[in-house]
Amino acid sequence: MAAFSYICDSVAVITMSNPPVNALSSALIRAVQKAVEEAIGDFAVEAIVIRGDKGKFSAGADIREFNRLERGPPLVSLIDLIEDSKKPVVAAIEGVALGGGLELALGCHYRIAHAQAYVGLPEVLLGLVPAAGGALRLPRLIGISATLSMITTGKYVQAREALKLGIVDKVVGENTVDEAIQLAKKVIGQPLGSRQLSTLPVQCPPNVEAFLDEAMVKVKKQFRGAQSPLACVEVLRAAVQLPYLEGKKKERELFQFLYTTDQTRAQQYAFFAEREVAKWTLPSGASWKTASPQPIRTAAVIGLGTMGRGIVISLVKAKIPVIALEQDKKQLDIGSKAVMSLLDREILKMEQLGHTEATNSLGLVQFTLDYGKLRDVDIVIEAVFENMALKKEIFRHLSGICKPEAFLCTNTSGLDIDEIASVTDRPQMIVGTHFFAPAHIMKLLEVVRGSCTSSTSISTAMQLAKNLGKIGVLVGNCPLFVGNRLMLPYIQQAIFLVEEGNKVEEIDRALEGFGFAMGPFQMMDLAGLDTLWRCHVEHGLTRPEQSTGTSNHCCGSKRYSPLLGILSEKLRFGQKSGQGWYKYEKPGGRKAMSDPWLHNFLSEYRDAHNFKTQYITQEEIIEWCLYVIINEGFKALEDGIASGPEDIDVIYTNGYGWPKHTGGPMYYASLVGLPVVLTKLEKYYEANPDIPDLKPSMFLKKLVAYGNLPLKEWQFHLGSQNCKL
Ligand code: 3HC
Ligand code: NAI
Repeated sequence: MAAFSYICDSVAVITMSNPPVNALSSALIRAVQKAVEEAIGDFAVEAIVIRGDKGKFSAGADIREFNRLERGPPLVSLIDLIEDSKKPVVAAIEGVALGGGLELALGCHYRIAHAQAYVGLPEVLLGLVPAAGGALRLPRLIGISATLSMITTGKYVQAREALKLGIVDKVVGENTVDEAIQLAKKVIGQPLGSRQLSTLPVQCPPNVEAFLDEAMVKVKKQFRGAQSPLACVEVLRAAVQLPYLEGKKKERELFQFLYTTDQTRAQQYAFFAEREVAKWTLPSGASWKTASPQPIRTAAVIGLGTMGRGIVISLVKAKIPVIALEQDKKQLDIGSKAVMSLLDREILKMEQLGHTEATNSLGLVQFTLDYGKLRDVDIVIEAVFENMALKKEIFRHLSGICKPEAFLCTNTSGLDIDEIASVTDRPQMIVGTHFFAPAHIMKLLEVVRGSCTSSTSISTAMQLAKNLGKIGVLVGNCPLFVGNRLMLPYIQQAIFLVEEGNKVEEIDRALEGFGFAMGPFQMMDLAGLDTLWRCHVEHGLTRPEQSTGTSNHCCGSKRYSPLLGILSEKLRFGQKSGQGWYKYEKPGGRKAMSDPWLHNFLSEYRDAHNFKTQYITQEEIIEWCLYVIINEGFKALEDGIASGPEDIDVIYTNGYGWPKHTGGPMYYASLVGLPVVLTKLEKYYEANPDIPDLKPSMFLKKLVAYGNLPLKEWQFHLGSQNCKL
């Protein structure tokens, strides 16, 4: 677990070891404490270096032990012991020093980091606050403002930036531990007072109270509904207002309060779910363990529109050379300019973080109109218009041009992967790689398996996701896959509520209150009403002959609303045209403003179609809109399109802005209680038999028949016979 050995007579090196990330379990903390005590008590030791085994300092408290912890972590006393040591202690940070890992390093008198190492206090991402003095020591070292940004977002800071901020004393390219030993020797006998962070004053901006009040308002807006970012601001307030020891008490109180909330449980669930989804298995038995991903050294992207541009940037950021292809010179000029401008921005960001080699990435993109250039690439990602005929034409062409080992991927939002694969010479190497906009920022990649897609192709796409810094989730092939399949009823339901007299602003406010970054109408305006309408048409969800129909709002026996089509025909596409469900200051503007024109139009529309007005409360808005997502989630599980509730939750929290502090739609359903969700759906469906999305899924009913089963047990009742993966 932790051992120390003497080096050069006087420096004790203590190695923390708890694979795979040296998480600070109770056993490891005890072992380190014992080793530190021994080193302090040993006359032959004059200085101490603490390092982590296998190139990782520590990823912080052992999250697997969280449910077993009752009184908060004993890490605090270990860190105090280190800080109080009269012998200098140096942290040799390789890999990561996160959460409790960084807190331990902050207790050390000096910190040396490897250039590739990351540090951070990501407790907030688990619904917590730093609990071992991190939020009290860090502002004494780097000031309130930089600490605020780190602890409320949980962001990871690379070594060079950490050096700039003052978190570490030195960054080295190699031999971190040797350098730490040299430093430790050099400072033997020097006074340590100024290195004991808890004894220093907090570095505050002039009007710190106003600064923190303003921070609270911002954080409330940015992390709607989440408690832990607010608690982070409170801990900082305590750091400013109280002496260190009292601040520590406040920190403990806040941690213990958060520790018992549903939000932290949901966020811990989300943490493990994000890692669980990487461990895919097919009905054939092939799995992440048995399949070998193929190396992707070069890539091509076809189509440089909204999605293609972001995909190119994503690949370049992962240092993969890309050939970017467009259909004609005009589009190539537009696309290449857009890519280069995005790339410039990324390079600037990297350079600000001290990456002097960032400009090299400019040379990684090559623009072309010539398909011949794609002959030798390892992977092609197609991102042209959502049109089956066009996609088939392109894949037929690629099949004849690309080397036989090349993987051919499509970014379609929901078209049939098998139909696309059918025109190629390698259906086993066709994969859906469904990125989310903006593709260089969003973390999710839906990896869609067609009926012929091989396990090697899946493994390669999942590994690519990881290399791009994304979370890959494997799903089956069905119209709209998992993410958009669940999204569609949500959008439709929100529009039905508007038809029934509710205001777009009220609906958005209710869902933003729930925690979504934006409500459904702002989201539609962002995505483009025309795009969404085309998607409805492409997937046969409308009656094309009556797209703007005036009387009958049914597609078969199913209710549908022509509003998206009507607004699109009036050129109200959303943000891009400056008006949609809201109006904007200019085309491309982002500030959504209530639009009197729309209110008048909707009121005439309701009168013309005799809609019965049905105002509902905020709580009901949330139920109507979210229960259809949940219900469709159960249907996707029943159909075997998603392999488990965790997959759906990871898709929703990483691709659709579902608030992580509620875990995701399926976790949220388990929190509300499945019998409650079922009863509500039954009631709403009875009142609206023309909305089949409200008809409770068989699987939901089956689960409820067993009582209120916890989410972990759902899988058992699902069986594997239906799995379409
Ligand atoms: N505790 C327990 N297990 C952890 C862990 C932790 N802190 N961090 C990671 N793991 C586990 C993962 O669950 C995974 O397990 P698995 O192999 O069984 O699925 C394994 O370690 C590897 O993790 P990743 O798949 O995420 O590996 P990566 O190499 O991609 O990333 C990492 C490594 C950057 C360390 C990433 O795991 C990470 O960000 N971990 C979270 C760190 C964190 O949140 N720390 C704060 C903890 S709370 C705390 O410290 C409270 C303090 O204030 C007292
Ligand atoms: P877009 O309309 O912005 O861009 C499409 C690009 O493809 C255009 O630049 C066009 O010139 C180019 N193109 C068309 N035919 C071509 C050809 N034969 N050869 C080379 N280039 C060609 O479309 P967008 O939004 O980028 O969508 C692309 C794909 O990604 C679609 O399948 C879409 O459904 C999917 N998608 C879109 C998302 C979004 O939010 N916009 C999200 C996820 C997936």
